[in-house]
Amino acid sequence: MDVLEAILRRRSIRRFKERNIKKEEVAEILKAARWTPSAGNRQPWEIIVVRDRDLIEELAEISLEQDWMKSASLIFVVCLNEELAEGSYGKRGVEVYGMQATGALIENMLLRITEMGLGACWVGSFDEDRVEDLIKTHEEKVRPVAMIPVGYPKKTPGPPPRREINAFSHVDEYKGKNLRNWRGLVKCVKKAKLETKRFMNSLREDSENNSNNQE
Ligand SMILES: Cc1cc2nc3c(=O)[nH]c(=O)nc-3n(C[C@H](O)[C@H](O)[C@H](O)COP(=O)(O)O)c2cc1C
Repeated sequence: MDVLEAILRRRSIRRFKERNIKKEEVAEILKAARWTPSAGNRQPWEIIVVRDRDLIEELAEISLEQDWMKSASLIFVVCLNEELAEGSYGKRGVEVYGMQATGALIENMLLRITEMGLGACWVGSFDEDRVEDLIKTHEEKVRPVAMIPVGYPKKTPGPPPRREINAFSHVDEYKGKNLRNWRGLVKCVKKAKLETKRFMNSLREDSENNSNNQE
């Protein structure tokens, strides 16, 4: 699977089979995390791999009762190490660079998870204080920023809608010109869109055909 295919195939998976992922698979996901870029290569992240069933249940409950999380094989709690992020960059290091690096780390993990045929979802809604109590980071400058419940997908939803490339891309300045002002670009964008549409339609068909098999 190439990178584009993993990007297009990745979906938020919220239903998992009763099957544990292997230690080797956990290591592969952490390997992808390790090679994430970060400002000044400060690598300002910590990852808590939660496999204790009671802890998983509690994490689901303090994530606005997202009960589906309880069916995950395990949950990666991704944290920002604010001390590492701050370095000589100060506030911007924590608020901008650190958040960007952990976001990139999460996406790297999600893409590798997709490539491996596993499923996961980026979870941001949770009670931060209570998560800190559970993973014992209260005394540290380590802030939980996301959770990634992982497992074998039971159901893979079809792709949700996306904004058009033309709607979010701007040439030279925001709201100044749109892509139409760059001669020939619109044609390339249309071609790219058509190719994606074909691929997404095949995914949609797969997801409909496989929905029974996955149950
Ligand atoms: C920062 C962030 C926080 C999110 N938080 C949650 C969450 O708490 N619960 C959830 O079910 N999905 C969550 N999602 C997943 C989004 O709902 C999902 O990515 C979006 O609907 C697009 O679907 P897709 O991931 O299948 O492309 C979050 C995604 C991001 C990037």
